[in-house]
Amino acid sequence: MSAAEVRVGLLGLGTVGTGVVSIISRHQEELRHQVGCPVTVKKVLVRDKEKQRPVDLDESLVTDQIEDVLFDKNIDVVIEVMGGVETTREHLLTALRNGKHVVTANKDLMALYGAELLQVASENGCDLYYEASVAGGIPILRSLSDGLSADRITKMMGIVNGTTNYILTKMTQNGSSYEEVLKVAQELGFAESDPTADVEGLDAARKMAILATLGFSMDVSLDDVSVKGISSVTKTDLDYCDQLGYTMKLIGLAKRDEGRVEVSVEPTLLPKEHPLASVHNEYNAVYVYGEAVGETMFYGPGAGSLPTATAVVSDLVSVMKNMRLGVCGRQVQEPLHARVLKKANEIDSKYFMRLRVLDKAGTFQAVTSLFASHDVSFEKLLQLPIAGEEVAEVIVITHHTTKENYEQLYKKLSELEVIESIESSYRVEGGR
Ligand code: NAP
Ligand code: HSE
Repeated sequence: MSAAEVRVGLLGLGTVGTGVVSIISRHQEELRHQVGCPVTVKKVLVRDKEKQRPVDLDESLVTDQIEDVLFDKNIDVVIEVMGGVETTREHLLTALRNGKHVVTANKDLMALYGAELLQVASENGCDLYYEASVAGGIPILRSLSDGLSADRITKMMGIVNGTTNYILTKMTQNGSSYEEVLKVAQELGFAESDPTADVEGLDAARKMAILATLGFSMDVSLDDVSVKGISSVTKTDLDYCDQLGYTMKLIGLAKRDEGRVEVSVEPTLLPKEHPLASVHNEYNAVYVYGEAVGETMFYGPGAGSLPTATAVVSDLVSVMKNMRLGVCGRQVQEPLHARVLKKANEIDSKYFMRLRVLDKAGTFQAVTSLFASHDVSFEKLLQLPIAGEEVAEVIVITHHTTKENYEQLYKKLSELEVIESIESSYRVEGGR
């Protein structure tokens, strides 16, 4: 570290990168006050040097050669906001091995290679911070590793993807179509360049793997997360949710019971009065339950240029404070607990199901007796004839049951002659 300044190499100058440049420039006085010296951006890597950028930046700093950042001895901290996994992993390993501290917003990378990168950082006496990788501007990782570090976390439940929350909010509130709202989310910079990861739940799953690993001190990998996205959610489902007193959200759930965990991401019905039900648009929120603290909730913008950049630059401040104290590279901790996943008969929930059934005598009895034989009981039940058709819609909210019972019931229902189709099925959380 130069005594006179902290020198940053930035990988990426897109939505988040431009926010980082802007905050470093606009908040220079606050940064200098916290770390005792100025912060200077020395190099910025982009793909296309000719592209117009919405920030004021000396052209000579912009490069399209990664070596200009990784091998520049005058760079102390590499900030990675370019995305990508395999090549980016190589770049960050090189940076760490060259003694450069790293800050990244990349959940794809951290969910897959976080443990390795943290290990290499530690071996090289470097810091690696990744606050922006989960829930954008909300300091949730820092809260888990610092503020709640004395507690034993048993449940984290959150809205951790801004794009899908934006889509579900606009579909519910304005009746907008899925496709038109997704386009707006892309224009606003929330969605990933390929939004499949957002809408199919993978982005949220990566964040839940990171949260569960940290919150439970357990090596939870992406493969351990059961994932379902929102691309098949229909306006009809949302209308029925509304009629029955629920709001649909893409919920990430990480739960620990007696050392066994479940981690999932799926569209979930929440009672309208549930605190997460009123988290709208691109906002994120994470509910954390600790045995000692009880319930806490963290709320804020989960995506977007300046909110995400705030988390990135705050990580930079942490690195700079560690540099000043001479305590970099001390983050690695072996997980305290072995990872044990719950089996389907240990996962407990309520469910919503929408069926199209033949509107004739005997149907109802066939359906209800299947529910009873699988030990699944009704909490709410609605049957509506469909005008001009010989079918009716049946909407069910079940009482609590195990995932195993519900999946077996689902299979049997889909084979039942009087059922034309199972239109949709969702988990229901919150309430009793
Ligand atoms: P973005 O707008 O697509 O920007 C990516 C930037 O990286 C661009 O400037 C691009 O250069 C550059 N880049 C990409 N690949 C490159 C390569 N191979 N070589 C050189 N430059 C390359 O992405 P973003 O939305 O800022 O997201 C960046 C990272 O932050 C991702 O990991 C994302 O998941 C994460 N994140 C984003 C948000 C958000 O709200 N957007 C929130 C939290 C975390 P060009 O401009 O020349 O194309
Ligand atoms: N695409 C992500 C989202 C960006 O919509 O939440 C923030 O990680």
